[in-house]
Amino acid sequence: MTTKKLTADKSKIRVGKKSKAAKPKSPFDKYFLYTHSVQGAEHDAELLWNMMQRCSDGPLPKNPTLQEDFCATAMLCYEWSKLGPNHQATGIDLDSAALQWGTKHHTKDLTKAQLMNVEMIHGDVLHDHKVRSHVICALNFSYFFIKDRERLKEYFVASKKALSKNGLLILDAFGGPDYLMPHVNRRRNREEKFSYWWEVETFNSINNHIKCHLHFQRDGEARRNRVFSYDWRLWSIPEITDILHEAGFKDVHYWAEGLTKKGEGNGKFKPIKSEMDCRTWITYLIAK
Ligand SMILES: C[S@@+](CC[C@H](N)C(=O)[O-])C[C@H]1O[C@@H](n2cnc3c(N)ncnc32)[C@H](O)[C@@H]1O
Repeated sequence: MTTKKLTADKSKIRVGKKSKAAKPKSPFDKYFLYTHSVQGAEHDAELLWNMMQRCSDGPLPKNPTLQEDFCATAMLCYEWSKLGPNHQATGIDLDSAALQWGTKHHTKDLTKAQLMNVEMIHGDVLHDHKVRSHVICALNFSYFFIKDRERLKEYFVASKKALSKNGLLILDAFGGPDYLMPHVNRRRNREEKFSYWWEVETFNSINNHIKCHLHFQRDGEARRNRVFSYDWRLWSIPEITDILHEAGFKDVHYWAEGLTKKGEGNGKFKPIKSEMDCRTWITYLIAK
């Protein structure tokens, strides 16, 4: 989700019909499907490191420390630890099953030293876990679950407190007119032989609450609907920026993916001053 520009289509989610392909041999695994559909953790780790190098004031720390809030399987933490011998990471999530899945599946190609540099906390990101980091991130829009302005401000104030001097809070946000209408967007992972659908079920313009779902269908199986569901507030970039300023962040920078001539994402992220005429967009906010 983080690296792709989505365009809405109007296809409907119908009752799942079994596909004619051979049945998969492995058991259904929602975390595997999640990490192979809407996440690009290897890319995100490099992007965050690039942002840190370009946006930090003062010299870079010797042990660049990342705190991944709402980390789920914490794939980003494990990728971060691969970037250098002193790259350290802490992941925080309420879902212990997701944390354990990550410990089992993302650590296979890590050295002992890299493993020692990663820590998981099973807990609420709104509580103080006494972790101090150079970068805190909340990606794939996870902080959108905080629907109340004061609560979001409390989260940003707590993040500011947990950051070391010159630290960065990095968030992503999505929007654009296509998101204001219910729609379904289908994508395919050819390598892993499954399709997935990102559905915006409802958007309420009175309070900007948005309900979204992820559906999956492995080749040879019926579709499983609503494997992940999100009940969010679609915060706008000006709202997030205002709240970040109120929480004590002095500067906010914006980065987004460049476009090919066809108008598709080109995989290259850079600072932007404006985001114009996009039916859908994903923008990173870097607060310091
Ligand atoms: C959309 S997933 C985000 C996964 C990951 N950040 C990514 O980049 O794909 C949202 C995660 O937030 C977690 N979560 C929701 N509220 C939380 C809270 N208050 N504290 C910690 N984790 C929370 C859920 O358990 C879930 O794993």
